[in-house]
Amino acid sequence: MEFIIAESTEDMSRRAADHIAACLQADPDCVLGLATGTTPIGLYAELVEDCAEGKVSFAGVTTFNLDEYRGLAPEHDQSYRYFMKKHLFDHVDIDQARTHVPEGANPDAHAVCAAYEEAIAAAGGVDMQLLGLGPNGHIGFNEPEDTFPAATHCVDLTQSTIEANSRLFECIDDVPRQAYTMGIGTIMAARSVLMVVEGAHKAEIVKKAFFGPVTPQIPASILQFHQNVTVIVDPAAGELCRDKA
Ligand code: GLP
Repeated sequence: MEFIIAESTEDMSRRAADHIAACLQADPDCVLGLATGTTPIGLYAELVEDCAEGKVSFAGVTTFNLDEYRGLAPEHDQSYRYFMKKHLFDHVDIDQARTHVPEGANPDAHAVCAAYEEAIAAAGGVDMQLLGLGPNGHIGFNEPEDTFPAATHCVDLTQSTIEANSRLFECIDDVPRQAYTMGIGTIMAARSVLMVVEGAHKAEIVKKAFFGPVTPQIPASILQFHQNVTVIVDPAAGELCRDKA
């Protein structure tokens, strides 16, 4: 694992964008796994700029997002499909037909999850998976549990995640209680992983996830077993790991 404490939050975004740009340059037809949340917004903005300047192209790229709220249609302004269009897809030269987000509006969990796994396999698997880190150590929407869920599945969100994400909704009652998410197995099958983390409120969980015991109670800790992981954190999120970087 490569663990990098960036000089600033902007530096974290720039470095992460450079990492993704390098993947695109090495393989213009690559399959990217993408993430939502506040943390990747800056790096998507950098990539939009890079694309406008002709430094990168998404023309051949296929994407799979980690997760989607169950019950939200793509047009809902808190759906992850909407987020991706707003921050990336609508501003780069990507073929939107090759962008995938679990079908939140379809209540048939079994069908949605099976189709998602099939689509990832048909695309040849994910080359580079971008991840954020939930305050409780979740990745995608894989919440702390007794086991690591393998494949894409429907999850009941924990109260702490509902509370953390309620800042983006009008009120907490509007936050969906369930989501579709790639499983830990799906994420671990990616050929490489890039995680970005920002903020002092994540400092403790960063230390536990990357330098503590591997446990399904901290889902991100499994990444310690992945062979090609880069973690880029901002100074606040890296505060308790200064001796490790
Ligand atoms: C959500 C997403 C995760 C994301 C996490 C952290 O719950 N499902 O994929 O990594 O939030 O988001 P933020 O970057 O806003 O802290």
